[in-house]
Amino acid sequence: MKKSLLACVALLSLFQLNAAEQAPIRISTSETDLIFTVAPNGRLYQTYFGKRLLNESDVTNFLAYQQGGTDGSNSARGWEAYPGSGAEDYYEPAFAVTHNDGNLETILSFVSFETKKIDNNVTETVFYLKDKVYPVEVTLHYVAFNKENIIKTWSEIKHKEKKPVTIWRYASAMLYFESSRYFLTEFSGDWAKEAGMSTQQLQFGKKVIDTKLGSRAGMHVSPFFELGLDGVPAENEGTVLLGTIGWTGNFQFTFEVDNTGNLRVISGINPYASAYELKTDEVFTTPEFIFTLSDEGKGKASRNIHDWAREYQLKDGKGDRYTLLNNWEATGFRFDEPKLEKLMKEAKELGVDLFLLDDGWFANKYPRANDRAGLGDWDVTKEKLPNGVPHLVKAAKDAGVKFGIWIEPEMVNPKSELFEQHPDWAIRQPNRDTYYYRNQLVLDLSNPKVQDYVFSVVDNLMKENPDLAYFKWDCNSPITNIYSPYLKDKQNQLYIDHVRGVYNVFNKVKQKYPNLPMMLCSGGGARSDYEALKYFTEFWCSDNTNPVERLYIQWGFSQFFPTKAMAAHVTSMNKQASIKFRTDVAMMCKLGFDLSLEELNEKELEFCQGAVANYNRLKKTILDGDFYRLVSPYESNHTAVSHVAKDQKKAVVYAYDINPRYGEKLLPVKLQGLEPTKTYKVEEINQMSGASIRFRGGKTYTGNYTGDYLMKVGLPIFTTQQIASRILEITQQ
Ligand code: DGJ
Repeated sequence: MKKSLLACVALLSLFQLNAAEQAPIRISTSETDLIFTVAPNGRLYQTYFGKRLLNESDVTNFLAYQQGGTDGSNSARGWEAYPGSGAEDYYEPAFAVTHNDGNLETILSFVSFETKKIDNNVTETVFYLKDKVYPVEVTLHYVAFNKENIIKTWSEIKHKEKKPVTIWRYASAMLYFESSRYFLTEFSGDWAKEAGMSTQQLQFGKKVIDTKLGSRAGMHVSPFFELGLDGVPAENEGTVLLGTIGWTGNFQFTFEVDNTGNLRVISGINPYASAYELKTDEVFTTPEFIFTLSDEGKGKASRNIHDWAREYQLKDGKGDRYTLLNNWEATGFRFDEPKLEKLMKEAKELGVDLFLLDDGWFANKYPRANDRAGLGDWDVTKEKLPNGVPHLVKAAKDAGVKFGIWIEPEMVNPKSELFEQHPDWAIRQPNRDTYYYRNQLVLDLSNPKVQDYVFSVVDNLMKENPDLAYFKWDCNSPITNIYSPYLKDKQNQLYIDHVRGVYNVFNKVKQKYPNLPMMLCSGGGARSDYEALKYFTEFWCSDNTNPVERLYIQWGFSQFFPTKAMAAHVTSMNKQASIKFRTDVAMMCKLGFDLSLEELNEKELEFCQGAVANYNRLKKTILDGDFYRLVSPYESNHTAVSHVAKDQKKAVVYAYDINPRYGEKLLPVKLQGLEPTKTYKVEEINQMSGASIRFRGGKTYTGNYTGDYLMKVGLPIFTTQQIASRILEITQQ
């Protein structure tokens, strides 16, 4: 693998021309062109970002300053690829530095660029920029994934000034748009109400979406957005940009409409409280900003990102996933060996692959009997589990399932031996009262010793229990009381160095245990970003497992993540919803259960067993197929989605009636992604009573239909029942 990469890099074409000779530089995917041009002033400008151009000759038609309203001098205002602070552009800069002499201005000139063919699908373009007055250099990277129509971009900053400089703006990317109107969809919420979607029109001035949570990107708002050009982002039509940043900490998106009605979008780490001291020759690498531009609406854009994620980003993106039984909702902290052994047998009875032991199994001096003590002390609680983790792994094996375990290694309760021994390992103020979030503190991952300790939590468990098959890695607190005893007078670097420390640990774990599946969790779905997901196979979307709420939460996350990466468990939250409805909602994602079988009657248990068997049979389509959002819960009293296998031979359709009105007009659901000329057999699966839904005239809808009919006419699969659902299996004949 490495060898072929080196060979490709050796084939790179290196261009070094002076600005006047430089032809426009084109970054292309199968559907998009992003074109840069060097202007007569020697600086780099974005001249086009849109649908891919057909003719190479058209690419040269762009003038570097055509978008900028030039005044005839050698200044070209606006659309500069990476504008520094203090020059003639009067809007938010992408980059700002205080030079050694206190000067705040930086103007970056184009030096050269190179294109590297990474493989037949992936091309990287690198721009080298330099200030002519101060020895500051910026390198811009754009990696284009042709088939998936994804571009990811980041920058590297370094300098050769005598003393360290302070950088206080360091965007990953700056993009410009020219359109009549701009509509932004953001994903805001809170704990247990993640990824709620709302859309607003952008007018002159700035709209900023950012977080200051330190240990995670999200919670109040997720690190991704949708941008509708000319209209509100729609599912199947219109030009839409989907953008997301791979950073597990404070992020910032700035949307600024300028005096000419153009939109500038700056994405990067949130510079809040983070003016960064950069030493001579040190390289500051920004996180990756990942985006796709679709002119077939956000449905297509989501599928682009899903494909890219499975192929390139997600840990084991192409691999299988375990179904599981988790004990958190069923037992909370109240369990012992017999109770766990019983649940393991139930996992087997249910037919899932794995039993996942959650919070509450560790610490002795201050046992983890609730969330007020024990975090940091990762020895099994002897009194509760006298035979330790090895016994549990063996008990699971005897029951016929694998064993997984919960950890939260980046945190410490003040009531713990770890805190008693290393109070200086926690982020907290030295001279003020401490503020706690869930009674705990965040360990200072800017400190390499703390990184080693956090790594050892996984490593020790794995060394003791090589058969451990799964980890759920939680992170329940944002950083509170921001102060690092380790960084001393460099407190401005804590937010950034902490996240880099987290990645060091994730990376070490992945290096040593490359095949270990891991769920990323952060008090629900507060950690859902594509950098963390390099190290995790899936993430926990929300602690809100009420299936009605989940329909909205999953709809939100599905805009950016393949359902393979979205863990969803069947629980007892919302007893008004039948076990069928609860299961049908979890079935559209990575399926798990979090209840005791004692809560189910015989018929319900039989249903769940059948559902697990169906899920296993259809797993390939569900986890690796194309995802279509058919009817939005935001726009209807119902919702429907589907997975279609890549070869279009199989599809699974999910229909949910949420809160229909009496006598409401029910429209058929038009499917998508099928082959119009082929015939498909439609069957209902996951049935509880055996009765299938009928047309109003009493005729069953199960039967054979052409793909064309299913996509143009559709199936009448909604009803006026409250909280009801059905799943259809569709098979090409
Ligand atoms: C928060 C997670 O989201 C839950 O699933 C559970 O693991 C608890 N933490 C345990 O404390």
